[in-house]
Amino acid sequence: MWRRVSSLTQFVSPTKSSSILNQPAYTLKIWESFTTQLPNLEKGGISFKDRIPFITFVLGGPGSGKGTQCEKIVETFGFKHLSAGDLLRQEIASESEYGSMILNTIKDGRIVPSEVTIKLIQKEMESSDNKKFLIDGFPRCEENRVAFEQIIGAEPNIVLFFDCPAEEMVKRVLNRNQGRVDDNMDTIKKRLEVFEELNLPVVNYYAEKGKLHKICALGTEDEIFEQVWPVFAACKQLIQ
Ligand code: C5P
Ligand code: MG
Repeated sequence: MWRRVSSLTQFVSPTKSSSILNQPAYTLKIWESFTTQLPNLEKGGISFKDRIPFITFVLGGPGSGKGTQCEKIVETFGFKHLSAGDLLRQEIASESEYGSMILNTIKDGRIVPSEVTIKLIQKEMESSDNKKFLIDGFPRCEENRVAFEQIIGAEPNIVLFFDCPAEEMVKRVLNRNQGRVDDNMDTIKKRLEVFEELNLPVVNYYAEKGKLHKICALGTEDEIFEQVWPVFAACKQLIQ
């Protein structure tokens, strides 16, 4: 099993983690209520026309530098960057039917039902001419992961995991001043709890499948990218 982020435990209060542990049941219940209505399940995933997609999942806790490194990967290797968090925030801004539910979920540091997030990702993948996708901040939990495989009908080629000590993640999030509703101490604690309880099992899953590339997220942006670059350079033939 993948090593747990030991320093995280100090941010995880026992009383709060019980409510977090209830979350998979909540999301799975919603998932069940959607499964009979998903047209793409019957079609067997989305159509990539004549393209064979190259999918990278980018995992890591809040403030681990996923977005910053994704920008560098886009510049260097020409990927289409899809940040699940950004897509959800755009949905809030557009005041769509799910906007207020998404806002409340993000404010609480919980995970939005998979069908909602995957629909947004799917729309972007289908409308893009690119075949190389960086899906950042997704999957956040096992249920996200399974739902993606079922709805999109694809698995990631590789998975990056930005491994960062909890103290460093808290410091970065509190200092980034992006005006986000969830960048406050209370929500950060919840996001770290969710990360440990729900996201680390996904990290372990891909480690066991041999797809995980663990990146030490400490250092300058360039130092971190020095670890990221060889991962993609090794896939040159698939991504050119
Ligand atoms: O990745 P980012 O930090 O931008 O995500 C912000 C919030 O968006 C998460 O804390 C969570 O509430 C929501 N989110 C989600 N499902 C995802 C990605 C993000 O519910 N797959
Ligand atoms: Mg981000």
